[in-house]
Amino acid sequence: MEQKAQLAELGLFDAKVPRYTSYPTAPHFGKNTDSAQFSSWVSRIAPGSSISLYVHVPFCRRLCWFCACRTQGTHSDAPVEAYVQVLKAEIALLKAQLPADITLSRLHWGGGTPTLLSAELIRDLAGAVTEAIPLAPRAEFSVEIDPNEIGDRRLDALAEAGMNRASVGVQDFDSTIQQAIGRIQSFEATRAAIEQLRNHGITSLNADILFGLPHQTPAIMTESVQKLLSLTPDRVAVYGYAHVPWMAGRQSMIRSDALPTPESRLELFETARQLFLWDGYREIGIDHFARPHDGLAVAQQTGRLRRNFQGYTDDPAEVLIGIGASAISRFPQGYAQNAPATSAYVRAIRGGQFATARGHAFAGEDLLRARLIEALMCDFRICREEILSRFAVAEADLDQMFAEADAAFPGMLKVSAKGLQIRDEARPLTRMIARSFDAYDLSTAGHSTAI
Ligand SMILES: C[S@@+](CC[C@H](N)C(=O)[O-])C[C@H]1O[C@@H](n2cnc3c(N)ncnc32)[C@H](O)[C@@H]1O
Ligand code: SF4
Repeated sequence: MEQKAQLAELGLFDAKVPRYTSYPTAPHFGKNTDSAQFSSWVSRIAPGSSISLYVHVPFCRRLCWFCACRTQGTHSDAPVEAYVQVLKAEIALLKAQLPADITLSRLHWGGGTPTLLSAELIRDLAGAVTEAIPLAPRAEFSVEIDPNEIGDRRLDALAEAGMNRASVGVQDFDSTIQQAIGRIQSFEATRAAIEQLRNHGITSLNADILFGLPHQTPAIMTESVQKLLSLTPDRVAVYGYAHVPWMAGRQSMIRSDALPTPESRLELFETARQLFLWDGYREIGIDHFARPHDGLAVAQQTGRLRRNFQGYTDDPAEVLIGIGASAISRFPQGYAQNAPATSAYVRAIRGGQFATARGHAFAGEDLLRARLIEALMCDFRICREEILSRFAVAEADLDQMFAEADAAFPGMLKVSAKGLQIRDEARPLTRMIARSFDAYDLSTAGHSTAI
């Protein structure tokens, strides 16, 4: 049977599955995790260790129709200034709770559009962060950049603060698609932003593009990817467009009859994939590509690739703290998420409390299953020896899990003494295969299409 028919038979074109940026996934977080729990997890961080910090800025100047991120539009600076003051208050609360001598190995500003902060606000916020928790030597400071919302003064401020990595949103260069998704951005604007970033000392540059957009064809995808390749990004994320107008109301502006079928989505991804591979990029997990020198490619080659809320990472830190509305933290003991609504978040912090609204404390087989799923998402395989040495699981039970996955995906997996491996031709099924190791109720809404 040809590959597409096999994938169809296994449900690839119908299934809805999580993206597994955490396990359990966020819809399974509960209200038992509160600010007291968050506080106790913070105080148990090892003194002298390095952690990662994510800063969420939920504002944008423009609201692109396709975007499923939780963000609000603003033309004035007042709400942004007020929000930065609240972030600073949250940093002060955190500082008071953190053990001694903690440094940051990674600092990431995301959103929304963190670059809508003025140069003054960038300095103010970056100063507050690094005064409270200094950057470790060789720390990575990355920022999500909208090429339409950046300028020299803001770049100067970010560079002075130590930004050395950046991620730019491209989506697609085709003008018909840009009009259909409500995001106009010329190739020249993207090129200029990337040049400016490189002139400001950015050593690793990521670009996001999307497949599955309205009117997108393999020919359009080819042209857009070739244009992107001319800008030589170090990393590229090729995300599947998630059309979820019931969750992101703006998407109802996008005509669903112009969207490609699931079968065409697979073809679009394959088109992009081949172009990146031909150009010498390494394939990283299910949706990233990186030049061989890039940290992600090196991590993949050396078995150190990880997956967290920002997607793929080579960050080895055990603790990732997220600050700002809706931000999620991960500790060895569990996950904690801040109140998603900016108003509730602001109220909690102004009241002198952490804004934790929900989360999950690891129990039972959570950590074992989290690692099984992460290994599949990062390496397309599970190493039996690694799992048996790290987790208290009986070999017979692990074999049983492998056998069940093998039975659910006949001919797609290779089970051996070494462990379990997803065959190359079955890689589009990776999230579905990962799901077979998920012990939580899978009927929960909020998952996206498998391709
Ligand atoms: C949170 S946005 C921030 C980017 C930045 N504000 C910009 O506009 O360039 C990060 C990325 O999420 C991805 N994204 C947003 N909405 C999406 C959707 N509906 N489906 C898939 N990816 C999406 C886009 O690729 C986007 O570049
Ligand atoms: S893509 Fe970026 S600028 Fe557009 S709405 Fe989403 S976060 Fe805002």
